[in-house]
Amino acid sequence: MKAFAPILPGAKTLSRFTHLSCSGCGAEYESDRLQTVCTREGCGQPLLAVYDFRKPLPKRKLRRRVSSMWRYRELLPVGDDAHILSLGEGMTPLLPSMRLAALAGMQQLYIKDESANPTASFKARGLSMAVSKARELGVQACVIPTAGNAGGALSAYCARGGLEAHVFMPADTPEMFKLECRQFGASLQLVDGLISDCGRIIQQHPQRHNWFDVSTLKEPYRLEGKKTMGYEIAEQLGWEVPDVIIYPTGGGTGLIGIWKALEEMQQLGWVGSKRPRMVAVQAEGCQPIVQAFEQGKNEAEFFPHAATIASGLRVPFAYGHRLILKVLRESNGTAVAVSDAEILEAVQEIAQCEGLFVAPEGAATWAACKRLLKAGWLEESEKVVLLNTGSGYKYAGLQPTSGKQ
Ligand SMILES: Cc1ncc(COP(=O)(O)O)c(C=O)c1O
Ligand SMILES: [Zn+2]
Repeated sequence: MKAFAPILPGAKTLSRFTHLSCSGCGAEYESDRLQTVCTREGCGQPLLAVYDFRKPLPKRKLRRRVSSMWRYRELLPVGDDAHILSLGEGMTPLLPSMRLAALAGMQQLYIKDESANPTASFKARGLSMAVSKARELGVQACVIPTAGNAGGALSAYCARGGLEAHVFMPADTPEMFKLECRQFGASLQLVDGLISDCGRIIQQHPQRHNWFDVSTLKEPYRLEGKKTMGYEIAEQLGWEVPDVIIYPTGGGTGLIGIWKALEEMQQLGWVGSKRPRMVAVQAEGCQPIVQAFEQGKNEAEFFPHAATIASGLRVPFAYGHRLILKVLRESNGTAVAVSDAEILEAVQEIAQCEGLFVAPEGAATWAACKRLLKAGWLEESEKVVLLNTGSGYKYAGLQPTSGKQ
């Protein structure tokens, strides 16, 4: 396979990506070679992409742009357009959800429907970006530990770019997640355990040096794909920022990414200083972030015996735990755990009120929203965005809880 040379300094590109900066110690890293996490001794924290904001970028420039996440081209890290691997990810609908809102007496409720992405989940954004950038820097094979959706998305973008994909997935993940990886030609290894065990097996695998590891936040660019959800929410609301964003949190990349997008948009002058309160939703059976938040800690611990039907939330330890907790505190947000029964009820309510068959992870945001209203944390009049991160169609085994609502 052809290896791609990095973009030469000074080559013509719309991207304003300049370098990477460590989220822990601030050390700087070059943008034109493969990077993983901070390599300073004792640090090892995720790296964040930094852009040049000195030149103005009027938002009217977006008007004629492609209807995908690539419309925010200047704020994305891929240098040369020729390296973009796109299946049309992003610019998913932000659906006003009036009938669902009415169930809880709310007035301004929206669902950002990420199931409309290629491979039917928001993971398409991060993996389109990460695989495009990796390929630009000469990578020919990628590896991922996955709760399901990320494996499918990696497989699809690797297929499109002619890269090898190696996917490690818990054996009890619903069948459709396995089928799609195989269809896309990935090598799929099923693991008796959780995503954390998949990660451990990859670390010990004899082939690991031949594979580029695209685990959540262990390379910097999935975050850059996920942040585009933040850009889109603001643009779709007419460059307004909602009061609250509710996000189903496993590894937390989307939550961190949306927050990063808001900071960037303020630097660009596209939005003001208003920020939404960010809510991380987890399942009662796997709630490391919720526990850390409630205990006032800045770091989460490994959550033992993780179990929930929302497989994407079965992440007992998030590599970006410090960043997630920082966003929750800075935004005046909160963290909520909901039960599997509440999730199943929410899947059905959203389906019957809005005609959307959402993933259980997405439904968890509605279950959390109702709890926050009851607790008085959320007001009925507030503008709230729920992230439906994936599609219910992949979870063939999930049964409705009862009859019509
Ligand atoms: C549908 C869905 N929602 C949410 C998540 C959690 O996402 P993140 O790891 O970005 O927090 C996942 C992860 O697999 C998922 O598949
Ligand atoms: Zn560092």
